[in-house]
Amino acid sequence: MEPKKLTVPDIGRMKAAGERISMVTAYDCPFARLLDEAGVDILLVGDSLGMVVQGLETTLPVTLDEIVYHTRMVARGRRRALVLGDLPFGSYQASPMRAVESAIRLVKEGGAEAVKLEGGTTMARTIEAIAAIDIPVVGHVGLTPQSVHRMGGHRVQGRRGGHAPGERDRVLDDARAVQAAGAFALVLECIPLDLAAEITAELTIPTIGIGAGAHCDGQVLVLHDLLGLSSDWTPRFAKRYAELGREVVRAASAYVEEVKGGLFPTEAQAFGARAAKAG
Ligand code: KIV
Repeated sequence: MEPKKLTVPDIGRMKAAGERISMVTAYDCPFARLLDEAGVDILLVGDSLGMVVQGLETTLPVTLDEIVYHTRMVARGRRRALVLGDLPFGSYQASPMRAVESAIRLVKEGGAEAVKLEGGTTMARTIEAIAAIDIPVVGHVGLTPQSVHRMGGHRVQGRRGGHAPGERDRVLDDARAVQAAGAFALVLECIPLDLAAEITAELTIPTIGIGAGAHCDGQVLVLHDLLGLSSDWTPRFAKRYAELGREVVRAASAYVEEVKGGLFPTEAQAFGARAAKAG
């Protein structure tokens, strides 16, 4: 039986009902299918694509064409989950109009049901413009990887007496601005858990945390961290639920060994072997 498709209003209702929201990044159809089958609520085609799939140091070079291409693959694999496309660096900052055009491409060409963008008060007009044409928007504040150069690295934001003065208030103001501008959910990345709890209690839209503690309305993890597909180093906030990287190496080594030793393929994997034998 086809599962009931999740919609944007369902995500809001989950907060009201106290049901936690699960989000995982996805970049292709097979993993989208598996994550959907596992019951993941939101599949985020994140610009983390650059770092975990393309092997880049930052997310900055990821293009809108690339996100559209990967969103299309993810959308084909989803049955129940909501597909959320990430607006990459350079596709929305120049003007609200540019952002609207990029968001339209993610929906029209990629099959996204909603878009995400980074930034708070400075992006309020942009969120308003996208929401005004009925494309649902998810905000993203705290550690915003597209601002890596301003932040001086991927560092926790909003600590009391943190790196920059007033950081905590800035994160709080950003979260409020995102909600006021019309976003339907907000990603909180790498902020202290008490700040995430304060924001979650104040906002009516759901918060989805990554490195923001347990008090958020939902959680998001990068697929490669969750599955243990990235290097042995895992960010402190992530949890490896499997070691698929090691399993891939084990399976591929066994294959190499069997090819070298003439053990693969056997008759079972060959065509016409039985007929030849009978003849
Ligand atoms: O691009 C991404 O994967 C993200 C998540 C880390 C929230 O933005």
